[in-house]
Amino acid sequence: MEIYKGDAANDGKLEKGELAKIFVMGKNPGWGAAVSPAELRTGDWIYSAYKADGQTPSGDDIAQCRACHLPLAKQDFVHRYDEYFDRRGK
Ligand code: HEC
Repeated sequence: MEIYKGDAANDGKLEKGELAKIFVMGKNPGWGAAVSPAELRTGDWIYSAYKADGQTPSGDDIAQCRACHLPLAKQDFVHRYDEYFDRRGK
């Protein structure tokens, strides 16, 4: 997921500014158990965050990623699950 800075335009509406960070989630069998504290385990998902250059870690606390995605067990810990993986077979 790309995170952009918000720039206020003339009329006060928020407009997309520069790319600020890149948040990444990935999963494979065993990944979650290998790196996650048990109480923050979100299945096999692991998390990373980078600055806009894609190379430099952003300094974000990965435990916070887990804590915010943790309540979403019913949709595989993905906030926009229904948009990414349409279950109605459209
Ligand atoms: C304050 C709560 C919160 C924290 C902390 C958080 N997320 Fe999320 N995350 C969300 C929400 C809400 C969305 C959906 C945002 C949207 O699409 O508008 C989301 C979406 C995502 C997505 C897109 C897939 C999806 O779930 O829809 C990725 C990838 C992601 N986050 C990774 C991370 C990473 C990596 C971190 C830590 C560096 C992190 N998140 C921290 C709340 C959070």
